[in-house]
Amino acid sequence: MELIYHGHSFIEIKIDQGSVLIDPFITENPKCDISVDDCLEKDLIAICVTHWHTDHIGNTVQLAKKTWAEVISTFELAKYFVDTCGLENVHKMHIGGKYECQDFDIKVVQAVHGGGIASEGKMKNDRMKVFPTKPCGFVFSLDNKTIYHAGDTALTYDMKLLSDMDIDVAFLPIGDNFTMGIDDACKAVDFIQSKRVVPIHFDTWPVIEVDSNKFAKKVLLEDNAKPKVLNPGQLLALDSDS
Ligand code: NI
Ligand code: MN
Repeated sequence: MELIYHGHSFIEIKIDQGSVLIDPFITENPKCDISVDDCLEKDLIAICVTHWHTDHIGNTVQLAKKTWAEVISTFELAKYFVDTCGLENVHKMHIGGKYECQDFDIKVVQAVHGGGIASEGKMKNDRMKVFPTKPCGFVFSLDNKTIYHAGDTALTYDMKLLSDMDIDVAFLPIGDNFTMGIDDACKAVDFIQSKRVVPIHFDTWPVIEVDSNKFAKKVLLEDNAKPKVLNPGQLLALDSDS
C-alpha cells in the first residue's frame, strides 16, 4: 500500500484495486503536485470528503462526474452532493458508523471543527442561508492496515478512543489557526497511540505556515510514534505484513 501526500489535506491511499482519495483539493491548492487530469487517469475507487469547506471538497464533484468513484461523506454533505451537484454514486454516513465497501472498510469519527452549506437565496433580496453540517475524520481498514485521516479538527479527548483501533498511520493537521497546532497535535499523537504520524494542513498559505520539522522532533521526543513529514508528491509505502 502507498500513502501519497498531494499537499494540504489531500491524501491518496493506493492499493492493488485502485486509489481512494481523501479531500482532493487540487486546482485551488497552491501546494498540490498533481492535476485533475492526472487523477482521472487513476483507477479511482472512492472519494471521501471530511467536511464542507472548499479546501476539502476541492475537485470532488468534477472527479466524481467523470469516474465511477463512490463519494463518501456525512449525511448532509452527501445529500448536497446528490441534490445540488447531481452526483449519483454517493454513500451517506455519519459519526460512529462503519461502512464495508468492496475494497475497504471506513468508519466516520468525530472532528471538532465547523462547516455549513451556504446557499444563495432565490430572490434578489433573500438572505444567504447556511445549513450546518458536521465535520468528521475517517478511519480506513484495508490491506491489514488501519489509517486515520483526522480532517480539520481541534485536539479532542475523543481521540483517546482511537487508541483501541491499532492505527498504523495517523494524518493530523498541525497548521494551527483553523485546526490544532504543533503542541496540540503532539498531544493527539499521545491520545491516538498510532505507529506513525504524518502532518497535514500546514504551509498551504501564510496563515497556516508552521515548522513541520519542529513537530517531527517533538513527536520523537514525547511520543512513541514515528513522525514522517511528506512533501507534496512524496509517499509512504506500507508493507502489508509489517
Ligand atoms: Ni475546514
Ligand atoms: Mn481546512
